[in-house]
Amino acid sequence: MDYKVAVVGATGNVGREMLSVLAERQFPAREVVALASTRSVGTDVSFGDRTLKVKALDYYDFKDTDICLMSAGGSVSKEWSPKIAAAGAIVIDNSSQWRMDRQVPLVVPEVNADALDHGIKKGIIANPNCSTAQLVVALKPLNDEAKIKRIVVATYQSVSGAGKDAMDELFRQTRSVFVADPIERKHFTKQIAFNVIPHIADFLDSGYTKEEWKMMVEVQKILDPDIQITVTCVRVPVFIGHSEAVHIEFERPITAQRARALLREAPGVLVVDKHEDGGYVTPIEAAGEDATYVSRIRKDPTVENGLAMWIVADNLRKGAALNAVQIAEVLVNRKLLKRAA
Ligand SMILES: NC(=O)c1ccc[n+]([C@@H]2O[C@H](COP(=O)([O-])OP(=O)(O)OC[C@H]3O[C@@H](n4cnc5c(N)ncnc54)[C@H](OP(=O)(O)O)[C@@H]3O)[C@@H](O)[C@H]2O)c1
Repeated sequence: MDYKVAVVGATGNVGREMLSVLAERQFPAREVVALASTRSVGTDVSFGDRTLKVKALDYYDFKDTDICLMSAGGSVSKEWSPKIAAAGAIVIDNSSQWRMDRQVPLVVPEVNADALDHGIKKGIIANPNCSTAQLVVALKPLNDEAKIKRIVVATYQSVSGAGKDAMDELFRQTRSVFVADPIERKHFTKQIAFNVIPHIADFLDSGYTKEEWKMMVEVQKILDPDIQITVTCVRVPVFIGHSEAVHIEFERPITAQRARALLREAPGVLVVDKHEDGGYVTPIEAAGEDATYVSRIRKDPTVENGLAMWIVADNLRKGAALNAVQIAEVLVNRKLLKRAA
């Protein structure tokens, strides 16, 4: 039991999942510390069969911490990640704050763990956006085989991707519909219960949203800067699990059968693709699971070398907590912690 691990944002959706994943995977931690805002000091959070008392980030001394898993949002990360790294810990950050920084590796271990070998200059490693992580896990073996030219994605993203308050809003609105109470809206721009909203994060001048832009540039940073990609991100009234309808155009020919075979061998991927009622995975089945599921693999006859598919994963696990813990495992296995420090 070698490492001291801090989880910042431990009372949130992702932070709680990080604690479960650390315990489930028996991460070699001599101590795990749960941190959040001063509002949560003294709150109990579960860590395996134990509970941890939450401490305040503001007053915590990181000097003997080896790894800090951050999931407290971009502004907290902007202020704290450099300070925590300066105290000697490696920060694995879930926010979008550092992802496109050239000196910060953006890592999905099944896809580009080797990016860590080039050095962790700022002491910070970025976890991608939840929708990016599951997408690149499925695209990597196909890109290696036939080189991706262009991708068109529509996402169907669950409310847990927007944090715990957003989950409560879906719950309250759903109840209000049934008991004929007025619908109260705070987090989402329109009613989310029994609706879908084609708008996640702020609009940019281009007409895309920040969430769509993040997916586009992150896929290019992780897989290949030459890939052309266009994305529409949509929030749906699902609690956990992001789904994606993906159309891919390749440089070289690749059949649906060959793609299925490659994906069956790919790390982190499970193919469930029977052309019959229920022969595909939906978010409810992916919730709580580690795998990225690929279904509905078929030829897209509208382009020369095209495939279409349906990709689903638990956004709190592969999209955030699991990916962060997998990065920490790579650091341990490749003995990168001491080197980076
Ligand atoms: N949810 C996803 O699918 C997903 C996927 C990838 C990345 N992310 C990213 O992960 C981060 C957290 O997301 P989430 O869904 O877990 O949000 P969340 O459920 O709203 O939780 C936010 C956490 O941050 C803590 N926090 C807020 N302000 C703080 C401060 N000033 N100091 C210390 N702690 C503070 C909160 O503590 P209190 O309870 O004390 O307020 C809480 O523990 C975000 O950057 C998000 O973009 C989320």
